[in-house]
Amino acid sequence: MAQISLNVNGKARVVDTDSSTPLLYVLRDNLGLHGPRFGCGLGQCGACTVIMDGKSVRSCTTPTSAALNKRSITLEGLGNVARPHPLQKAFIDEQAAQCGYCINGIIMTVAGLLNRSPPAGRREIVETLDERHLCRCGAHSRILRAIDRAIADQPGSQP
Ligand code: FES
Ligand code: FES
Repeated sequence: MAQISLNVNGKARVVDTDSSTPLLYVLRDNLGLHGPRFGCGLGQCGACTVIMDGKSVRSCTTPTSAALNKRSITLEGLGNVARPHPLQKAFIDEQAAQCGYCINGIIMTVAGLLNRSPPAGRREIVETLDERHLCRCGAHSRILRAIDRAIADQPGSQP
């Protein structure tokens, strides 16, 4: 066990844990952030996705030591009920979920791609989701509608 300093959702946090502990466990169990979800635990489903220094990573297969000196963002850090991130708002507006288990991770991956400079286009987003995320409910068409809405709502987007 060691004290590990993290920056999560803009706040400095210190946790007592083994440096090899998956970041997902620290976020959920030590910090009480339940946006990242445990799905497969094997880096295959994407439910545990968080953004680290601007890039989406799977927190179930990322050791906590990898988050040292990096800025990590979970779903809670994107927005909240009163002030949702535009992507969260688009998912709500399109009711883009069935059970919703996969959605948190998908939002984090898409947020990372849209916040990039220049932002990723629809094709890259769809290919990335296809490769990195599973939705067992088959809510894909609703998810894509929400993403299209978020892309259209971006400043500077063309109709
Ligand atoms: S729980 Fe991390 S990829 Fe499935
Ligand atoms: S909405 Fe249920 S797994 Fe995607």
